[in-house]
Amino acid sequence: MTKRKLPSNASVATKAEGDKLVAPAASRNAAALSELLAGIAPTSGRALELASGTGQHIAAFAKRLPGILWQPSEIVPERRASIDAYSTGSPNIAPALHLDATTEAWHMSIQRQDLVVLINLLHLISWPETRTLVTEAARALRPGGQLVLYGPFMRSGQLTSDGDQKFHAALTQQDPEIGYKNDTEMLALLQEVGFARVEVTEMPANNLALIAREPAI
Ligand SMILES: C[S@@+](CC[C@H](N)C(=O)[O-])C[C@H]1O[C@@H](n2cnc3c(N)ncnc32)[C@H](O)[C@@H]1O
Repeated sequence: MTKRKLPSNASVATKAEGDKLVAPAASRNAAALSELLAGIAPTSGRALELASGTGQHIAAFAKRLPGILWQPSEIVPERRASIDAYSTGSPNIAPALHLDATTEAWHMSIQRQDLVVLINLLHLISWPETRTLVTEAARALRPGGQLVLYGPFMRSGQLTSDGDQKFHAALTQQDPEIGYKNDTEMLALLQEVGFARVEVTEMPANNLALIAREPAI
């Protein structure tokens, strides 16, 4: 992907102990996301997280769902080091992979997954990159697998809070190709790439979780 110019508040992570980084947003939403996944994930199998960031989320998910083997991934080396620092001592978290989720054909380099999770990236990439990411995620799943996309979205083309309007404007000012995606266009894209059912769940801070299920053949 092209290196994107982002506003300073778009992907905040500060140094903590050793290689660990802390993202305030991840500290706030890890519990709600763990609960969401606990309600839908299988009790065993494989899960891939795209754009894992600091690794705070995958550490929480692996604790909440210990029967799943979790594969974190990231493009930034400092963040992969942080992910590995958080996963030290967790037998069900693999070492962080270098995976650019917006490149064609990445699904061919990984094993089939029961679950693919993406948190807070779609508003930072373009629509063509979003299409590639969702298509590749669909191909990475085994039949009956699930894709969870979490983040801020427009609702039927509308930005529904002051904070969302300001954040979307800051993003598009830095880079007109990025910004909030529309929930209705996401639902159409998920159907187009073959997901049989998509459930939309309202999450704290006006975010959405789109839970897409592959047909079980
Ligand atoms: C806003 S942060 C979200 C991180 C984490 N998912 C979370 O919610 O705490 C976006 C993350 O996506 C990573 N990233 C950006 N572009 C990416 C890409 N094309 N493929 C994989 N990761 C990417 C960034 O390095 C950053 O860690």
